[in-house]
Amino acid sequence: MIEHNISLKPYNTFGIDVKALAFGRFGSLEELKVLLNERNREIPLLILGGGSNILLTKDLPFFVLRNEILGIETIHETDEEVIMKVGSGVEWHAFVRHTVEQGLGGIENMSLIPGSVGASPMQNIGAYGAEIKDTFVSLEALHIDSLELHTFNKEQCAFGYRESVFKRALKDQYVIVSVSYRLTKHPKINTSYGAIQSEMEAMGVQEATVDTVSQAVMNIRRSKLPDPKVLGNAGSFFKNPVVSKAVFEPLQQQYPDAPHYPQESGDEKLAAGWLIEKAGWKGKRVGDCGVHEKQALVLVNYGGATGSEIYDLSTAIIEDIQTKFGVTLEREVNIL
Ligand code: FAD
Ligand code: EPU
Repeated sequence: MIEHNISLKPYNTFGIDVKALAFGRFGSLEELKVLLNERNREIPLLILGGGSNILLTKDLPFFVLRNEILGIETIHETDEEVIMKVGSGVEWHAFVRHTVEQGLGGIENMSLIPGSVGASPMQNIGAYGAEIKDTFVSLEALHIDSLELHTFNKEQCAFGYRESVFKRALKDQYVIVSVSYRLTKHPKINTSYGAIQSEMEAMGVQEATVDTVSQAVMNIRRSKLPDPKVLGNAGSFFKNPVVSKAVFEPLQQQYPDAPHYPQESGDEKLAAGWLIEKAGWKGKRVGDCGVHEKQALVLVNYGGATGSEIYDLSTAIIEDIQTKFGVTLEREVNIL
């Protein structure tokens, strides 16, 4: 069924109240094909998962298609590993817990990331020392114009830091319908990032397992990141900027305590949250939006903000960071 002039407020974690010209849901590849066949081709499409990485700045003259394809299937199993093919509408965290509860390793550090499995390859989601590219096997995606189903392997997805081919060369051309992940039966526990180790000590954990890592990550995330059900947000609003040595070295001399992460290319990744905090934005409120008081990389909607007010706040932050540090921040959230 296609509905018209539907409020998207329940479908985006910023809680922005804009309307979609047309709205439909699909629970299978067949339903998706029917909707795509019947659609008015002059109206642009927006594929929606959990709406946790978008900022809606205006009413959308779009046909919004909400993905509800479910199902988790084991398609390969040996003594060493399991490959699971997951419907793209499955909630990412539900899939993570499904693997962790079976003692399978690979994605436990990415516990509690909101959104759908189908969006996970879009920006190669990552957290606490892991990215999906490390366990990704392949995905199936429907080509919107030809309605052909194509399989993409890891190389074809061109994953990078918060990047994939689906945000670049193939933007708006495909609907991802399933993603396959490789999980190991012999997990290598990774507690090197941030506070995982100290959180597990505080939890009284004697022997780390995928489940204790998952629980520790959930505890840390709950302590810093706002729950979108309580305070609208889309996680990190900006990417952490990767800068050349020429930009980095004078900054490091001036701010020796600035967190930085050396990259294979010789460049340095800076912590945008640190820059934004240092520039005095942390906890700042402008109208009904602001910068989260516990994580300066997260912009929040106190309830009544419009998408364009949040966008304007992000522009003011970008300009200020450019002036103060000579560093250009790039938005991570998809702006519509
Ligand atoms: P949506 O917001 O619905 O869509 C995002 C983009 O992908 C849109 O362009 C949409 O058109 C496209 N898209 C979605 N599904 C499909 C599909 N099936 N086929 C084709 N295109 C599709 N991200 C991280 O990487 N790491 C984190 O630690 C993290 N923490 C977060 C914490 C909070 C509190 C919040 C609110 C967000 C966080 N995010 C994080 C961002 C977000 O959770 C991820 O980007 C997630 O993958 C988005 O999933 P979604 O289903 O909500 O995508
Ligand atoms: N920092 C500050 N002030 C702040 C926030 C951070 O000084 O207000 C400093 C921290 O002290 C730390 C460094 O910045 O030294 C990094 O902070 P943190 O570990 O909290 O992570 P982040 O770089 O801010 C990234 C991801 C998150 C992911 C976490 C954990 C990006 C854009 N963000 O945030 O992903 O959960 O690491 O791995 O890469 C998302 O993409 O939406 C997201 C939440």
